[in-house]
Amino acid sequence: MKLHIEFLTLVIAITVVNANDWWMNGNFYQIYPRSFRDSDGDGIGDLNGVTEKLPYLKEVGFTAAWLSPIFKSPMADFGYDISDFYQVHPEYGTMQDFENMIKKAKEIGMKIILDFVPNHTSDENEWFKKSVDGDPKYKDYYIWHNGVVDPTTGERKPPSNWLSAFRYSAWEWNDVRQQYYLHQFAIKQPDLNYRNPAVVEEMKNVMRFWLAKGISGFRIDACPFLFEVDLDRNGLYADEPPVTSGCPDPDDYCHLQHIYTNNLPETMDMIYQWRELTESFKKENGSDTKILLTEAYTDFDIMIKYYGDGKRKGSYVPFNFDFMGNVNKDSKAVDVVQNVNKWLNAMPKGKDFYPNWVLGNHDSKRVASRFGVEKADLVNIMLQTLPGNAVTYNGEELAMTDVFIKWEDTVDPQACNANPTNFNSYSRDPARTPFQWDASPNAGFTEGTETWLPVSEDYKVKNVMMQERAPHSHLQIFKKLVRLRKEPSMQDISNLQIKAVPDNIVIYSRYTPGSSRYVIILNLGSTTQTININDHFPVGQKVEIITASISSDYSDGEVVDAARFSAKGNVGTVVVAVQ
Ligand code: GLC
Ligand code: MG
Repeated sequence: MKLHIEFLTLVIAITVVNANDWWMNGNFYQIYPRSFRDSDGDGIGDLNGVTEKLPYLKEVGFTAAWLSPIFKSPMADFGYDISDFYQVHPEYGTMQDFENMIKKAKEIGMKIILDFVPNHTSDENEWFKKSVDGDPKYKDYYIWHNGVVDPTTGERKPPSNWLSAFRYSAWEWNDVRQQYYLHQFAIKQPDLNYRNPAVVEEMKNVMRFWLAKGISGFRIDACPFLFEVDLDRNGLYADEPPVTSGCPDPDDYCHLQHIYTNNLPETMDMIYQWRELTESFKKENGSDTKILLTEAYTDFDIMIKYYGDGKRKGSYVPFNFDFMGNVNKDSKAVDVVQNVNKWLNAMPKGKDFYPNWVLGNHDSKRVASRFGVEKADLVNIMLQTLPGNAVTYNGEELAMTDVFIKWEDTVDPQACNANPTNFNSYSRDPARTPFQWDASPNAGFTEGTETWLPVSEDYKVKNVMMQERAPHSHLQIFKKLVRLRKEPSMQDISNLQIKAVPDNIVIYSRYTPGSSRYVIILNLGSTTQTININDHFPVGQKVEIITASISSDYSDGEVVDAARFSAKGNVGTVVVAVQ
């Protein structure tokens, strides 16, 4: 029976291990350019800074860097409000700097992915200005409406009760055009009208422009917001129903059920069209595969649909925000196991479909703050050893933490729309502070004296230089994990066996016949537990420690008794069976 099963696994392994395209089992690194490295001393990160640091990414072993928006912007939402999709933001550099960055990336074998922000532009974009002026080409580029006039008071009100994701009405009156426009985010971010074919084409041209510059794909922003319901028979937009419980504040986005402004079926068609565009580009130009990573905080079933619908394909990496939403510092082992299996079971199968794991980005509090610094390595170990693609937000490899920023110094529009008592729970500034390179003033982020957000106070003891020198550090652990991912057993995305040992131990094996068997043990609790690894996976008498959290009592390379493995609290460990 055992032989039979092993034979079957072998057959499956041979058919599935075909991970030859560059993005498969990729290790993606999100750069927040404004905070990564400032090359010219103005306290704001820039493209030359990114170029300078590409060798660092190469050294750690990342496949690709995706950059938050680098396009011309008045920075109302720090680049997610684009005033010219075809230009580099002057604070970040020039087109020449961009081209140098691409050239350098090619030289060292690093892919560059840009942020594509299709849902809205800046109100300072020429398209919007022309739309305001009623220019025939642009007048329907955005969503305009007269609003509704109260028959008794004669007062004009917004067309519907729709809310902005950043709080308050999603409609803003424009004095020049004498109409309201829709903005699902900040007032300075008018929504484009995707029911206008000219807009769809315009945005496709934006994609083609940057693909032709040699990038390897896009991270697509705010996908669920692309389409809103069309006007009804009376020329009105329907109100959204309030939630039945949990969010009484009528100005807060969570107060409504977004049935007319979010996840419309048309959205998925658009994603599939963009996939088709990238595939045609590849075919026509004989280029590398151009991939899409998609941002959609939405229902699980819809998230899975971003991969494709069985007939058409969509995103290569539909960010797994289900895992991010369900797994936290209080999770028990069963929660983690269930959520891993949930994604693996639901996603489509086939050689073009890879799972992905992500816990941090520029919109969330830092992983080391959410889970506690003591669990930072455990989280990195988990993300790097689960099958498929891993996504890391810059600084998580060092276990950087949130920096508290006072109300008076807060700049994130989402937090500025809140109030002095609750702003911090909305603020995204704490996770966006300058990257910590070394112990020199301002953490080696800038040679200037000011920085756009404050540098974390802990930079002297938490930075790349120090963690590179130390024999055991968050970064060293991270690098070991990245290298481990190249092993055949770690490349085969169909070989995961995972179990919960209640309450707190998650244990899983990655094994492909002919290669080594790796076992990963995560102790989510705070107390030590002794386990016999052979009760779960056959590893023989001894295992070697590949790497473990900083606070582990084991050292890398140590050979230990599998029958009495000591799983310390908050510690993650990767072991390999010793033949
Ligand atoms: C996405 C971005 C976020 C931005 C929003 C509006 O959620 O990740 O930073 O504020 O879209 O563009
Ligand atoms: Mg929209």
